[in-house]
Amino acid sequence: MAKARIAVIGAGLMGHGIAQVFALAGHEVSIHDSVAANLDGAKARILSNLRDLGDDVAAVDRVQPTGDLAAAVREADYVVEAVLEDLPLKQKLFAEIERAARGDAIFASNTSVIPITAIMGGLENRARALGTHWWNPPYLVPLVEVIGTQWTSAPVIDWTMALHAAAGKQPAHVKKDVPGFVGNRLQHALWREAISLVENDICDAETVDTVIKAAFGRRLAVLGPLENADLVGTDLTLAIHKTVLPDIESRPGPSPYLEKLVAEGKLGFKSGEGFRQWSPEEQAALRAKVVQHLKNARDT
Ligand SMILES: NC(=O)c1ccc[n+]([C@@H]2O[C@H](COP(=O)([O-])OP(=O)(O)OC[C@H]3O[C@@H](n4cnc5c(N)ncnc54)[C@H](O)[C@@H]3O)[C@@H](O)[C@H]2O)c1
Repeated sequence: MAKARIAVIGAGLMGHGIAQVFALAGHEVSIHDSVAANLDGAKARILSNLRDLGDDVAAVDRVQPTGDLAAAVREADYVVEAVLEDLPLKQKLFAEIERAARGDAIFASNTSVIPITAIMGGLENRARALGTHWWNPPYLVPLVEVIGTQWTSAPVIDWTMALHAAAGKQPAHVKKDVPGFVGNRLQHALWREAISLVENDICDAETVDTVIKAAFGRRLAVLGPLENADLVGTDLTLAIHKTVLPDIESRPGPSPYLEKLVAEGKLGFKSGEGFRQWSPEEQAALRAKVVQHLKNARDT
């Protein structure tokens, strides 16, 4: 893949990590944020991550922070947005980006849940726009979902897939712009049943997590559900579904149990209690465990 000029808009948790991945792949990266403190800290965060991971620290020299949005995107081949999850903000930003960028530049949004169609619908050239959904931390989780809208051209999808593959990511093409794309639909289908098991007093929250982590969670990184269905047989899968599916949670909205936790201020780590209670030490230990696990997976 030829080296490209990449602009990353938003230098927060996701933006600085996305900039790091592209810089490490040899691309020139401009990064912009409207909050000076976030922009000023971006290169230090990237350098610290590169050191921690044993990656080439010279990559940080390819990252150019700028407080000027137009300057960040003017020469770019590819612009990826990772600002706050706010539809009017993203729409306004892409209108500004389209005025300043080259006519052939490709535009991507890293939104988690907002339809790409809603973000990009106001552009003059909608064929050049798509979604790229990275996972946190961007430099440790391989997947990037590449989401086309009804307007996105095939060459734009192909180029974006190739860009991410060449940067060491695992791009996955999502053919329709549906809420949650693929990853979050699957993840939250599981969370819905997990909450329902607790809500219906079938087991407690710790048991739900233990069952997943000690059983099929162990296999999930190497055996997807559809590979697993083929492995055991589609006939067996059908028989299991006839018995189990009528009984598992299928309500279309959020669980009342979850709504009650939120109403009571039980917000998880940030309040010290959610489904379970969390001391500061337990929170730090769990965060560290996740990062270490992702680092180990990256090295294998
Ligand atoms: N955090 C995650 O796990 C995760 C995962 C996948 C996708 N996302 C999505 O990525 C995007 C960014 O999330 P984040 O977690 O990095 O948020 P964040 O709050 O860490 O960073 C957002 C950054 O955008 C900047 N910003 C706000 N308005 C701006 C503007 N007008 N111009 C330029 N910069 C502006 C903020 O100053 C901030 O630095 C969101 O759309 C989010 O939904 C987040």
